[in-house]
Amino acid sequence: MAVPVPELEERALACAERLAAADRVLLASHIDADGLTSAGIAATALERAEIPFESVFEKQLDDKAIAAIAAREEETVLFTDFGSGQLEAIGEHADEFTPVIADHHRPAETGFEPDHHMNPLLVGIDGAAELSGAGTTYVLARALESVAGSEADNRDLAALAVVGAVGDMQASGGELEGANAEIVKQGVEVGAVETSTDLALYGKQTRPLPKLLEYATDVRIPGISNDAGGSLRFLESLDVDLRTAEGSWRCWSELADDEKQSVASGLVRRAVSKGVPAEKIEGLVATSYVLAGEPVGSELRDASEFSTLLNATARYARADVGLGVCLGDREGALDRARTLLREHRRNLAEGIEWVTEEGVTREEHVQWFHAEDRIRETIVGIVAGMAMGSEGVSRSLPIVAFAEKEGEAGEIKVSTRGTGRLVSRGLDLSTAIGEAARAVGGDGGGHDVAAGATIPAGRESAFLDRLDTAVGEQLS
Ligand code: C5P
Ligand code: C5P
Ligand code: C5P
Ligand code: ZN
Repeated sequence: MAVPVPELEERALACAERLAAADRVLLASHIDADGLTSAGIAATALERAEIPFESVFEKQLDDKAIAAIAAREEETVLFTDFGSGQLEAIGEHADEFTPVIADHHRPAETGFEPDHHMNPLLVGIDGAAELSGAGTTYVLARALESVAGSEADNRDLAALAVVGAVGDMQASGGELEGANAEIVKQGVEVGAVETSTDLALYGKQTRPLPKLLEYATDVRIPGISNDAGGSLRFLESLDVDLRTAEGSWRCWSELADDEKQSVASGLVRRAVSKGVPAEKIEGLVATSYVLAGEPVGSELRDASEFSTLLNATARYARADVGLGVCLGDREGALDRARTLLREHRRNLAEGIEWVTEEGVTREEHVQWFHAEDRIRETIVGIVAGMAMGSEGVSRSLPIVAFAEKEGEAGEIKVSTRGTGRLVSRGLDLSTAIGEAARAVGGDGGGHDVAAGATIPAGRESAFLDRLDTAVGEQLS
């Protein structure tokens, strides 16, 4: 067996052996794209190894959630895409269950050292950029092949690991790197994943061309981005016919190579003529990751669209639907997920519109907004990240978003997002938010580039003061 990340092999084998020795396993995972794909990988690998299990999903692995897990019968609990940040609380239940952890969040500093713990950050690999929760779980799945003594070949699960990494924005530099790239290679080997250098716009499988161009705002092209009429005129000005026989616009995925070439070079010409800087134009092209087994035109074929579909389920308390899709349900679960996706998209668009209209408040080192109950706490971080760089929201300051926690009066959710550039200057939101949250009676953590917390209502400005100072120190 070749695990794709040799640094994790020993830990992976220890975790796999523990799972294989269990009568039953409780699989607990996080409610986002990376958490769902982690669960999909773990569930499939456990099933192939004939290890009985049940799964649960949590928004946040807080003390309450851990206590509920401890109260269950299963003696072995596999945590995926969370767990490392909650070692202390998990340790308090050490006599009630054995934790097996496959995570990539910053490990909590505590006296409790679990025997079965996989995390890229423990072996010198960047957990925010080079390996996701799903990638870590994939390494575990490969290790399970050998200890379970089954004939399983889990390399097909690399496709889900790619979706998890892309969903956690680990390809935001243009392609997946490091340990992620090894996983991609294994997926390509078995024909589950295809990579190509392609247009870096979101929606290549499902958005008709005018919408693809209009909504693409990561690289802003004057007269096309956010401009429905301009996008249409641009497409009509090209000398290729980009419509179907019935006259409706095709999607990017349906175009032939020469047609793609015409659109792409037209876009580059337009960007150059409008004075878009060269390094921005380079960002129009990136490596795209395709799930080869999915039909052309399905959101499941594009890793990025797949991840959004998953967020549309689990972040709305329908993790069961997203897991169904990960496990291959192409009927009921996929239909339901598509319905949820329409609503998710509407919520994202409305949220971003609200933030840009309302504006953000600038402190010295961070900028922030308080959505109260206008944006769901489970998507306020996505909205914050997507709003960065739009009108009035700088990309040179980390963004901090507050929202009320539904059904938990007195608690406020905080989400923060930075950029790769800020991280290279020393930003570590995970540490900063953890310190600031604990100082006001809350708790939090995450990654250097994206982190979250829960704090008591009314403590927002004290929290902001602390966070602003901590970020200022990191960036000085
Ligand atoms: O909990 P989890 O690790 O799955 O979430 C990671 C979060 O960090 C995602 O919301 C992802 O979009 C965000 N992120 C980001 N920019 C990066 C890396 C991660 O916004 N470069
Ligand atoms: O939680 P995280 O910050 O990763 O969320 C980013 C989400 O936004 C991803 O699911 C990504 O696929 C989605 N997205 C989108 N439309 C875009 C860019 C990103 O729906 N234009
Ligand atoms: O919730 P949000 O998308 O803002 O989370 C950003 C990152 O911070 C995720 O990786 C999430 O798991 C992490 N986080 C955390 N502790 C919290 C809230 C979020 O570790 N209390
Ligand atoms: Zn993750």
